[in-house]
Amino acid sequence: MARTLEKLQKQYNRAVASGKLGGGPGRGPMAATNNAKGKPRNMRQTIGRILGYVGGFRRRLVLVFLCMMLSTAASLAGGYVLRPVINNIADPAASAADRLAYLGMMLGVMALIYIVGVAGTWLQSKLMIGVSRNAIQNIRNDLFTKIERLPLSFHDNETTGELMSRFTNDVDNIGMMLDQSLMSMVSGIINLVGTLAMMIYTNIWLTLITLVFIPIFALGGRVIISKSRKYYSAQQAALGAANGYIEESVAGQKVVKVFNHEADCVAEFDLLNGDLRGKQEKAMFFGGIMGPVMGNTTQISYSLTAGIGGALCALGRFDVGGLAIFVNYARQFSRPINELSQQMATVFSALAGAERVFALMDKEPEAADAPDARTPEKLEGHVVLDDVSFGYVPDKTVLKHISLYAKPGQKIAFVGSTGAGKTTITNLLNRFYDIDSGTITVDGVDIKKLPRDYLRKNIAMVLQDTHLFTGTVMENIRYGRLDATDEEVVAAAKTASADSFIRRLSDGYDTMIEGDGANLSQGQRQLLNIARAAISNAPILVLDEATSSVDTRTERHIEKGMDKIMATRTTFVIAHRLSTVRNADAIMVLENGEIIERGDHDDLLAMKGRYYELYTGKSELT
Ligand SMILES: Nc1ncnc2c1ncn2[C@@H]1O[C@H](COP(=O)(O)OP(=O)(O)OP(=O)(O)O)[C@@H](O)[C@H]1O
Ligand SMILES: [Mg+2]
Repeated sequence: MARTLEKLQKQYNRAVASGKLGGGPGRGPMAATNNAKGKPRNMRQTIGRILGYVGGFRRRLVLVFLCMMLSTAASLAGGYVLRPVINNIADPAASAADRLAYLGMMLGVMALIYIVGVAGTWLQSKLMIGVSRNAIQNIRNDLFTKIERLPLSFHDNETTGELMSRFTNDVDNIGMMLDQSLMSMVSGIINLVGTLAMMIYTNIWLTLITLVFIPIFALGGRVIISKSRKYYSAQQAALGAANGYIEESVAGQKVVKVFNHEADCVAEFDLLNGDLRGKQEKAMFFGGIMGPVMGNTTQISYSLTAGIGGALCALGRFDVGGLAIFVNYARQFSRPINELSQQMATVFSALAGAERVFALMDKEPEAADAPDARTPEKLEGHVVLDDVSFGYVPDKTVLKHISLYAKPGQKIAFVGSTGAGKTTITNLLNRFYDIDSGTITVDGVDIKKLPRDYLRKNIAMVLQDTHLFTGTVMENIRYGRLDATDEEVVAAAKTASADSFIRRLSDGYDTMIEGDGANLSQGQRQLLNIARAAISNAPILVLDEATSSVDTRTERHIEKGMDKIMATRTTFVIAHRLSTVRNADAIMVLENGEIIERGDHDDLLAMKGRYYELYTGKSELT
């Protein structure tokens, strides 16, 4: 149990250290901060960035502000009208009829004023929600765009759940703050200033007495604010961790069941959940306690004001109407303070969320295309790797001094034991990762000098792990080339030997694929992936264990179908099943990131080296 928390903490520290949460040196909103330890954070910058998103709606914001002024003015004026009314009623000289007529008239005036106030509030809410929803839409867009642009290496150490948590909880919290808190805070401040002005206007001495209590509020508020800020960021981080865990165990549910880990999973989740509860409890407690604490303090000041004001009236130094509205204002004065403090809860969780969102937005995207990148008319597919070395992480070289030349029409195979670096080579070809040293050229052009999307358009890949999107079979195959006609899709499916099984599906090519192809067999999923590559016109084709789950007869069919396609293309094939690569023009045997043998099937067998061992199954014996 403790292990999970420890693991969590380690993951978290690693994330901060690697800059994943923006804690890397010198960059991102949290660069100068570290929320794990609750040190002060760069709130101003975060707020500035959020405001940047609403800044585009200046005219609407000015209107919102005017509406707030209007509704505050209306509520203050409405309150003030009571002064002459009460004084008039209390005036013994006036006749009853006159008093009632005056009262009636003033009530009408008050009603008008309040109607204006309500209209102002209505308009302000409507406008502000529009602004905030637009801002949130833009934040989501920016976040999603960023995720699409991040290099694959980013996903190597980020759980999907945590990413989702940024999209859902964190962004929602920012939205809530913009919808409600921001507005009530600004209107609270306007109210505060307006009420104070009216109080001073009504009676300056009583105002001073009320104000004596302000530093006491401020002090109490400050203590609570600093505590709750700390707990709110801890809460958001714990929420991300819990979401990450949920996502992981839902996605891996089959494996969990296979190994009977349900109970462990529940126990581990319970631990994370408990951690989250503890942090939420603290955050909410400190967020919520502020209102009541302030409420009690204001009550004391309120009673004192009423007492002293009453004494002034008795001495004839103040009018009863004045006292009545003053007491009313004094109460109103504390309301915005209370409201401000209540909004703090939302604001802090929003700011903590915003920091996580912006930290992600600040992640380095895939390096931009070189300024001198050019787009050749057409690529033929001459691929040259010259002394290429690469490691996923610094100091751990995965590929060492790889050199090879492949030309159109050739089929180059990579074989070798698991983890030798076969997939890694293909990852480098289309720049999922950039090489550390050496060069890779296509048609003589360094791939770093080609626009990335152009390069990828010219390489059709069947990845080792298949992936299908929610959509019809037709759409999934067409993903390989969006302008392909239905006939071309069917032809590609035939090439990939997928046509016959697709026709047996309930709706044929219109069958919906859901949950990453959960309704298909592993081999069928591979066939669709091959069809997707077959439909592409790319001159370079990469098949990474493309047929590993397909029966040998179907595999031979696919080979026959693909032969036509491969005739004009440069093809890289990776396969453990060596029979699939027998007919390759050249076979590279990889071991520990190095090409230890190369040649065609017969050459390699004659060599009686590693390939011979692999092929004859003698490798285990040595
Ligand atoms: N994203 C990654 N981050 C760090 N290391 C990685 C990553 N992907 C692979 N590696 C490491 O690189 C080495 C080569 O991996 P690669 O995927 O190229 O092997 P492979 O030859 O394709 O193996 P297999 O036959 O199992 O598919 C492995 O030792 C692996 O641990
Ligand atoms: Mg592999």
